[in-house]
Amino acid sequence: MILPSVVDAIGNTPLVELSRLTAHLGLDGRILAKLDYLNPGFSKKDRAAKVIIETALADGTLAPGQTVVELTSGNMGTGLAIVCGVLGHPFVAVMSAGNSVERARMMRALGAEVVIVPQAPGGVAGQVSGADLALVEARAQEITTQRDAFRADQFGHPGNPIAHEVGTAPEIWAQSNGAVTSFCDFAGSGGTLGGAARYFAQQGVRSYAVEPAGAQAIAGDRTDHPDHPIQGGGYMMADLAHLRDVPLAGHLSVSGDEAKSHTRLLARFEGIFGGYSSGANLCAATALLRGPDRGGCIAIVICDSGLKYLSTDLWEI
Ligand SMILES: Cc1ncc(COP(=O)(O)O)c(C=O)c1O
Repeated sequence: MILPSVVDAIGNTPLVELSRLTAHLGLDGRILAKLDYLNPGFSKKDRAAKVIIETALADGTLAPGQTVVELTSGNMGTGLAIVCGVLGHPFVAVMSAGNSVERARMMRALGAEVVIVPQAPGGVAGQVSGADLALVEARAQEITTQRDAFRADQFGHPGNPIAHEVGTAPEIWAQSNGAVTSFCDFAGSGGTLGGAARYFAQQGVRSYAVEPAGAQAIAGDRTDHPDHPIQGGGYMMADLAHLRDVPLAGHLSVSGDEAKSHTRLLARFEGIFGGYSSGANLCAATALLRGPDRGGCIAIVICDSGLKYLSTDLWEI
């Protein structure tokens, strides 16, 4: 089949059983990994980019040819750069200096204008905090007004969770023949978790939020250790719009070191080259099989490609 554009190649990613890892770790149960790093922008955020832009064009909030602006840790921006490039919209990505440089390079190559915002005082490269993100948000708002642009708004636009409610989760359910008992996901905007949880609740599948240890705002923990290397989330935002009224079965925490070691396990035992949050999801899935979901079948998303972390310490093995 010939697709009309690469935008049509977003989604419908493979689902792979991690049987080598469950055997190696001596786990009772199954883990199924949705390979969303195989999307055109090498991340699951392509899905949200596609649905937000298509929805905005359909409802008239985005005019043909209008500039699009978004705050991004790199992946949402890459998805938007692809979709906007194909559909003919100039795109401005606003990103923290704390995110890895590969991301900015890739977005520029795809035609985006990339604005890098310095980190808050005391910020550590590779660790993007809520304070860093607040600075990026302020700049994104400024640019949106200046350019009379459409703000894609991954934290607020319903197209983000809808992409996972009608895409990611039903795909997992169909590919697994309804075998999944639980889903867990490291939350950034909460779009993946919120949208998937809404669909899975109707199938009797439990959904869990995954957060960095020491930064568990969704779990209601008011801790003050925002530093972690898991890019794309863990911003200590207690009230994520996409998680309001979403049925969650519980909360799991993963340390930066656990996320790293499990990302390496994915590569070593399964040949799956993901990023930190993929390792965080795997680590959380192992905790579910060792705890409340012993003998169950856990679905996780491989959120983005390990190639996006070559400049970090993730692969200094
Ligand atoms: C690598 C990575 N993991 C996880 C997430 C979190 O996904 P969501 O925004 O759907 O909660 C993101 C979001 O940008 C991401 O880039």
